[in-house]
Amino acid sequence: MRHLMSPLDFTTEELDKLFDLADEIEKNPEKYAHACEDKILATCFYEPSTRTRLSFESAMIRLGGRVIGFSDAGSSSAAKGESVSDTIRIISCYADICAMRHPKEGAPMVAAEKSGIPVINAGDGGHQHPTQTLTDLLTIRSLHGSLHNFTIGLCGDLKFGRTVHSLINALVRYEGIRFIFISPEELRVPDYITDMLREKGISYEEVIRLDDVMPQLNMLYMTRVQKERFFNEEDYVRLKDFYILDSSKMKLARNDMLVLHPLPRVNEISVDVDDDPRAAYFRQAQYGVYVRMALILTLLEINV
Ligand code: NCD
Repeated sequence: MRHLMSPLDFTTEELDKLFDLADEIEKNPEKYAHACEDKILATCFYEPSTRTRLSFESAMIRLGGRVIGFSDAGSSSAAKGESVSDTIRIISCYADICAMRHPKEGAPMVAAEKSGIPVINAGDGGHQHPTQTLTDLLTIRSLHGSLHNFTIGLCGDLKFGRTVHSLINALVRYEGIRFIFISPEELRVPDYITDMLREKGISYEEVIRLDDVMPQLNMLYMTRVQKERFFNEEDYVRLKDFYILDSSKMKLARNDMLVLHPLPRVNEISVDVDDDPRAAYFRQAQYGVYVRMALILTLLEINV
């Protein structure tokens, strides 16, 4: 039985197969509409979510399966003190596969150890968010045409943003990727990531000003300042509007630069960018459904 805790749980060859399947699902949705008819997905969300939970649910329903779950720890037995290990043992009796989001780093991994069904990490604290990374990689592969040879700027909260951590981890396995980290001093990418890049001999730059590097980028991955992971309100208020991408800044960018964002956005991308053909974040959310459909089929070992 396989779980998905990190994007690195799949080899790049396995990821290619997963993305090919997602492409096939996009082109032929009817072919997959009954693939999971007798299956149940449990979504166990101990932390708020719109996209991730609903895209998992939509993915399972589009495969003909059914969905159970909770979207708030307060309405689950966690509120009575039940451990995730006990909860997953019980969920294993009710469902065939589980997507779990938890504010504590490593909680889905603890659950996976005791689980009788595949567990998918749907975000664990500030650590990893592998299915967002699968979404990001599929978006890049589809819209840029390849997962090799590009310069990507990651901008915003690089300290607490788990989507950033997962994406960097995943991208280092492809060739010719140049990273530019754009953040205020306080929200720099964690040392364990820059240490890993140095060890692998992968080049990266850390800058504060977005404008200076904008013309070099093939992709700009914007992120929200992660309010819920701050220790005090004052720091959050000081940093929350540090970057605002608007149509005047977009004039500095290449004509084919893609703007990605895992969403939700707060103020970091002004709505006047939404109609720019380079804004890819809403298309990115659509790819998230196809890739989660492909992931469910793969982990349940269902061949259509
Ligand atoms: C992200 C997350 O939960 O980490 N959202 C998502 O799943 N698309 C990004 C965020 O909350 O800023």
